Amino acid sequence: MTSQNLFSNLGKSRIFKNRSVLVSDFVPLTLPHRENEITRLAQIMSPALNGTRPNNIFMYGLTGTGKTAVAKYVSNMLTDEANRRGSPATVIYVNARKDDTSYRIITQIGRLLDLKLPFTGLSVAEVYSRVVSRIDKRGGMIIITIDEIDNLIRESNLNLLYKLSRINSDLRNAQVSLIGITNDARVLEVLDPRVKSSLGEEEIVFAPYNAEQLRDILHARVHDAFVEDSLEDDVVPYVASLAAKDHGDARKAVDLLRKAGEVAERLNSNRVTIDHVKQALSEIEVDTTLEIVTKLPLHSKLVLASALELQNKKEIVVTGDIYTGYIMLCKKTGLEPLTSRRVSEILNELDMVGIISTKILNRGRFGRTKRVVLNIKPTNILEALKKDDALKIM
Ligand SMILES: Nc1ncnc2c1ncn2[C@@H]1O[C@H](COP(=O)(O)OP(=O)(O)O)[C@@H](O)[C@H]1O
Ligand SMILES: [Mg+2]
Repeated sequence: MTSQNLFSNLGKSRIFKNRSVLVSDFVPLTLPHRENEITRLAQIMSPALNGTRPNNIFMYGLTGTGKTAVAKYVSNMLTDEANRRGSPATVIYVNARKDDTSYRIITQIGRLLDLKLPFTGLSVAEVYSRVVSRIDKRGGMIIITIDEIDNLIRESNLNLLYKLSRINSDLRNAQVSLIGITNDARVLEVLDPRVKSSLGEEEIVFAPYNAEQLRDILHARVHDAFVEDSLEDDVVPYVASLAAKDHGDARKAVDLLRKAGEVAERLNSNRVTIDHVKQALSEIEVDTTLEIVTKLPLHSKLVLASALELQNKKEIVVTGDIYTGYIMLCKKTGLEPLTSRRVSEILNELDMVGIISTKILNRGRFGRTKRVVLNIKPTNILEALKKDDALKIM
């Protein structure tokens, strides 16, 4: 009898060949339907190779439209080419969602330039001036990419953005270009006009993908990610059409495909089916609801709880009813209620994060009011609300 190695089949997936191809910070070798953005960015950045400062660039578009992927892809290529030519061009990448204060961002920039910096203890101005001398000592062209820059649009961080936008006036032997990336184009309105015009020397807008484009994007990854023949044919088109409805978000598409594979694997299936996609979708919804709702302030949770209760009782839920219900919940929990105006603002905030939708209703002589509809399965919201001890009463 030939003895088989105990491990030969353990830990081997029937579904995934390489699951890591489907995690969201993976940068694929090709980016279908972003050829124009790639070429444009490369053209703008290319003077760096000859020691000329590229214009600053501002890139924006909704989440999952490929901004980060394109920035990293072009940066990698530029770095390779710079090394090949022996050109002193360097690209560094920081993410303001991960490092969301001035101190952390400027420290991270310094570290990427091989500066040794403590996690705390210095002032932002001190770190900034060390970074400036470091850059000047290095010389050459340095392109600093700040991804998700909207996270720095807080009063306390604006000064750093202002300084960075004028950093070249502090440099003698080196020059810096900035690439700012954001999912939220409204940041431009908030910025100091001087920062705005400096950052926006060039702009690249990323449009959402349509279903067909998402299909191509997914197909390009399927081969590397999945064992041959482990996907039913209709899975990729189905995932693409769902993500297209959700503002053409490639991240959602890639995540959903990976999750569907995980569901198939968990169920010991040989192939991923549409049912697995549906199952994955509802698991994702539970996860995101949980993440959003558990982070809400207590009063926002109470407003949401009031909307939830009314939804079971009434065909049409309007803001006035929600306020009344909210006051009752405050009484039950022994909290001082907020004003109705503040509750209206909370409803707008819940609308912005996508938990509810509101619509103006015209009720003749009763004037105008707002109708509120829950966008998420009530049971999922309830689960998430119940995580808060203060809401155990529900
Ligand atoms: N054109 C594309 N081709 C292949 N993958 C893409 C493309 N656009 C986006 N992706 C993938 O979708 C996910 C989200 O893209 P990302 O660049 O992070 O979006 P954004 O930064 O605009 O939110 C990533 O996994 C990325 O690799
Ligand atoms: Mg991004």
